[in-house]
Amino acid sequence: MKSNIDIEKHVKGESQFIDDIIVPEGTLYAKVFDSTIAHGNILSITIKDAINIPGVIGIYTHKDIPGINQVGGIIQDETLFAVDDVQFMGEPIGIVVADSIETAKKAAGKIKIEYQKLPVITDPREAFEKNSLIMPPRTFSFGDTDSAWKDCKIIVEGKAETGGQEHLYLETQGALAIPEEGGKIKIISSTQSPTAVQRAAARILAMSMHNIEVDVLRLGGAFGGKEDQATHWAVMAALAASKLNRPVKLVLPRMDDMRLTGKRHPYSSDFKIGLTSDGKIIAYEATFYQNAGAVADLSPAILERTLFHATNSYFIPNVRTTAISCKTNLAPNTAFRGFGGPQGKFVIEAAIHKAAQKMGIDAGKIQKKNLLKEGQSFYYGQKVERCQADRCWEQALENFNYKKTINEIDKFNGNNHQFKKGSALMPICFGISFTNSFLNQASALVHIYTDGSIGVSTAAVEMGQGVNVKIKNAVSKTLSVNADKIRIETTNTTRIANTSATAASSGADLNGNAAILASNILLKRLLKSAGEILGIKDTDELKLEDGVVFHKGRKTELEWNELIIKTYQKRISLSAQAYYATPDIYFDKKINKGRPFAYHVYGTAIITVTLDCLRGTYTIDSVKAVHDFGKSLSPVVDRGQAEGAIAQGIGWLTVEEIAHSKEGMLLSNSLSTYKVPDIYSAPKEIEVIFLEDSENPFGPFHSKAIGEPPLMYGIGAYFAILNAMKAFRPEEEFKISAPITPERVLMALYSKSTKPVPSPN
Ligand code: MOS
Repeated sequence: MKSNIDIEKHVKGESQFIDDIIVPEGTLYAKVFDSTIAHGNILSITIKDAINIPGVIGIYTHKDIPGINQVGGIIQDETLFAVDDVQFMGEPIGIVVADSIETAKKAAGKIKIEYQKLPVITDPREAFEKNSLIMPPRTFSFGDTDSAWKDCKIIVEGKAETGGQEHLYLETQGALAIPEEGGKIKIISSTQSPTAVQRAAARILAMSMHNIEVDVLRLGGAFGGKEDQATHWAVMAALAASKLNRPVKLVLPRMDDMRLTGKRHPYSSDFKIGLTSDGKIIAYEATFYQNAGAVADLSPAILERTLFHATNSYFIPNVRTTAISCKTNLAPNTAFRGFGGPQGKFVIEAAIHKAAQKMGIDAGKIQKKNLLKEGQSFYYGQKVERCQADRCWEQALENFNYKKTINEIDKFNGNNHQFKKGSALMPICFGISFTNSFLNQASALVHIYTDGSIGVSTAAVEMGQGVNVKIKNAVSKTLSVNADKIRIETTNTTRIANTSATAASSGADLNGNAAILASNILLKRLLKSAGEILGIKDTDELKLEDGVVFHKGRKTELEWNELIIKTYQKRISLSAQAYYATPDIYFDKKINKGRPFAYHVYGTAIITVTLDCLRGTYTIDSVKAVHDFGKSLSPVVDRGQAEGAIAQGIGWLTVEEIAHSKEGMLLSNSLSTYKVPDIYSAPKEIEVIFLEDSENPFGPFHSKAIGEPPLMYGIGAYFAILNAMKAFRPEEEFKISAPITPERVLMALYSKSTKPVPSPN
C-alpha cells in the first residue's frame, strides 16, 4: 500500500479544502470583527457606517443569538460573541455578512467600538499572584518528597520556561453553512471535532442536534488547533445562515487566524531534583504555571497531561507536581500536538541537565540510569507494561554509534573556537488515550455495495496525518480485499454520531479498531453466505483471501463480486455498524491515580548541532532515533509523521517565537514576524529506525499511535544547543528558556557575567 491516499490529489491541486468547495448560488460571506484591546468594558458599538454599505446584508452580535451564547467545552466560560466586556485582543464581538468578502471586510472596518480599558495581564506568574486562575491548582504525588530530600547527595533547583507555538496549519480556520429544508443546517467545517461543532451550533441556535449536520472531508492541517477552536467560525456561519436562510461562508484570513486563535500554552516552571552521588533520581518536585489565556478552552485537560508526563521516561520514587492554569489576557491557548506533555517533559530534562552540570557528568548518564523498567509504576499509579525504554535507548546508542559521535564532537570542539558542536539524548515515553476516559470510544459504519465496492465511515478526521490510509489498510486486511475497492467517506455526524475529536494521537487506534469490528461482522456474514452458496456446512473451513473464497486452503470458484451480489440476492445485509471502547482504562481524579492510558509509546533520539559562536546561529546536524511504532499499519505514513513531528518539535524550541506587547497585542502576527523551520533550519539529517518486535494488543493489528510522541525528540535539540554553548563558555550558567533563538543564543554567549568570554588562545 502506498502512502497517504491524498498525496496524489494534493500534488495535482485536486484536493478540496473549505475554500475549494464550489459554493451554492446565493452564498454570502462573513467577516469577524473583534476587540482591539486586551481587557476592558464595551461602552458602545456603532454599526451605522457599516450597515449602509451596498452589499452588506447583516451584522450580528451576541444580541442576535437565539440560544445560549456559550461555546466553552470543559468550563462554560466562553461566549461566542463578547457581551459587556472583552478579555483579549481579537476576541470576537460580531460578524458582518455581505455579498462579497471584500464588502464584508470593508464594512467590518467601519464598525466603531468604544471601550473602557482595564489592566492587562500577559504573564502567568503575575496572574497567579493576582489569583487570576482558570480553576484550582492540581497536584499529583507519589512517595514522599519531603522526607526524601535528606537521602539526596545532589539537590538542584531551578526555573524553566517554554514559549507558545503557532499551529500554522496550511488551511486557515473556516466553514460553509448551508440552510436546508425544515430548518436544518448543514455545516461543512474544517474541524477535528465534528460533534463539538454540532453541539455548539445546536446550543447557540437553540436547535436540536439532529437539525445540525456537520461534514468534514479533510483539513489542511490542524495540529490540535482545530480540536476546540474550529467551532467558533462554524457556529458563526451557521448563525448567519439560519438568520438569512442563505449559505454563508466564513474563512479566516491568515492574520486573523493568527490573532484570533490560541496557540500552544507557554509555561513557566520551577523544579527541584534530588539524586544520589551515582545519579539515581530520588526525588522530584515541579510547579507548572500554564499561560491559559482568557478562557479555559482545553487548558484543564492540557494541564493534566503535563502532570501525567512530568517524569517523562523515568522512574522516580518520590514525586510531587503541581500545575496551575493561569488566566491571562491573551487569546485562549489550546491543544497543540503533545497537549501539555512536551511542556512537562521539558522541565524534567532541564532538571536533569542542571543536575548533570553540577555533578560534572553527561546528562545521558542520569537519563539512562533512571529509565522506566517493566513492572515499575508510573507516578499516577499505572503499571509499566511492555516497556521499551531500555531497548530504544540501547539500540539508538548502538545503531548510531553514539560513542563515536561524542568523540568526534569532543575532538571538533578542541580544534575549533568559533564553532562548537553539541549533542543530547532524548528518551520519550508518551501515554496513549484521551485522559478523559469517556472520550475513548468510536464507531464505524461499513457498507458493501452490490458491485463489490466498499464505503467506510468513521469518526476519524483526515488532516494530513494519513488516518484514512490506515483505516483503509485495516479494512482491507480484515476483509482480505484489495484496498482499491475501499473508499473512506467524509466524517459526517449523520453517519457517525457523537464523535470524539480526532486527537490525542488516537484517531487510527479508536476508529481503526471500530472499522475492524464492523468488517468482521460483515466477514462472518459473507462466509456463512459462501458456505450456503458452495454447499459447505462448516464455515470454519472457509476463508476469504485476496477476494477469493478458499475451502480448507483450496481456492474455490467463488470470488468477491459474485459472493457480494449473491449475498445481496439472498437478502443478507451488506452493511454493518460497530462500536469500540478502549478496555480497562480509568482514572480517579480525587486521588489522581488510575490506569489512564491504554499503552505507552517509547523512543530515544540523538540530536547533534553545530553552533556559530560569533553569530549565535546554529544548524541542527542530525536527529537519529529509534522509535516504537508497534507493527506499523503504514510505514511510509508513520515515518512521515515522525519526521514532521521532529521538525515541529525543534521549531517550537528553537526558532518559533511568539511575541506579545505589554498591552497584549500579538506582535508575531504574520509569516514575516513568525519563523517556522524551513529547509535551511530543519535538521540536515533525520533518520528514524523502527523498533522491532513491539507488540501492542490495543492498536489495530498491533500498531501504535504516532501523531504526537516524536514531537518531543525536539526537546533534545534545545539541550544539544545548550551543550554547544557550554563548550564555548564552560563556566557560564545559562538560563533555561525556550525558544533558544539565534538572537537569544548570541546574547547569552556574550552576556555580562563574572566569567569573561574566552578568547581564541
Ligand atoms: Mo491533539 S493536540 O490532542 O488535537
